[in-house]
Amino acid sequence: MSVKIGNIDLGEFPLLLAPMEDVSDPPFRFVCKQSGVDMMYTEFISSEGLIRDAAKSRAKLDIFEYERPIGIQIFGSEIDHMREATEIATLAGPDLMDINYGCPVKQVACKGAGSALLQDIDKMVKMTEAVVKATHLPVTVKTRLGWDDNTKNVEEVAERLQDIGIQALTIHGRTRAQLYKGEADWTLIREIKRNPRIKIPIFGNGDVDSIQKAADWRLEYEIDGIMIGRAAIGYPWIFREIRHFFNTGKTLAGPTIQERVSVCRTHFEKSIAWKGPRVGIFEMRRHYANYFKGLPDFKPYRMLLVKEENIDTIHSILDEVAHKYRNIEPVGEMA
Ligand SMILES: Cc1cc2nc3c(=O)[nH]c(=O)nc-3n(C[C@H](O)[C@H](O)[C@H](O)COP(=O)(O)O)c2cc1C
Repeated sequence: MSVKIGNIDLGEFPLLLAPMEDVSDPPFRFVCKQSGVDMMYTEFISSEGLIRDAAKSRAKLDIFEYERPIGIQIFGSEIDHMREATEIATLAGPDLMDINYGCPVKQVACKGAGSALLQDIDKMVKMTEAVVKATHLPVTVKTRLGWDDNTKNVEEVAERLQDIGIQALTIHGRTRAQLYKGEADWTLIREIKRNPRIKIPIFGNGDVDSIQKAADWRLEYEIDGIMIGRAAIGYPWIFREIRHFFNTGKTLAGPTIQERVSVCRTHFEKSIAWKGPRVGIFEMRRHYANYFKGLPDFKPYRMLLVKEENIDTIHSILDEVAHKYRNIEPVGEMA
């Protein structure tokens, strides 16, 4: 059965790219889209930043036709500011708006935004209601299990936010206190799915990094779709591999070295086009090691790539990588 958010038809069991600050920008989203992701989100955007018209926040509103369906994610601590930010973001023309109630980092949570709202559900409900009323677009929410082990209140969150009109909920199977440590626990996510009151799609998130896990957890936790973050970094093929397995029951061979180089190159070119050469070259540096994970003795190439400032030379190094590793077998799913 197709999963729907408002009028957006995501097909059966959609695979979503997680919003990731400094990662899920347009260049990275381009390569994920090429790999068949079903829906994507922007990096989170500060409501305060949007209202102040800060350049960094405004740049994050950049979305492209080929990216659809795409959601803009916002966060904040002030209800009025979230309302205003929603109006601004809606004008950028996304397919939906998403609210971040999951971010655990101090700079966000200690200012009363992100996961901090898990400590004040009444305020979270009011804030969400303000966002729902401020846009004609569907509103979705991304959150965690709760603030800490003693306050896993996501069941209440799911019911109350559905009641005031959110149209899908993504749950990261960790508490705020866990940050990114330990293992994600999806059992509570299944409880929410099984709650007969809950009608909106529930997406599971946290630690999916292989075809097997996606297939097992789909059955075990009964969710409507899966959101993937870290495992897609340097490995956007994870989306096509999981989709292929769901469609055929067969495991697709991992990318060849030529594909790795080609997708890395695309990511690089898109970074330069969107960010300009200086920032594009600089910010691409964090991605090389991920694209070539598992290749023996890759370090010298990485060292060259992360120091190089000339676009043509970077392309030449990538040519060399393709040549040097041409006889290496595809490393396979999530090497
Ligand atoms: C570098 C990084 C940046 C992130 N930024 C955001 C963000 O902007 N908004 C958000 O809702 N979650 C953010 N997250 C959390 C992810 O969306 C996701 O919930 C988390 O990584 C767990 O999923 P995974 O195990 O598939 O990575 C971020 C995570 C990482 C690693």
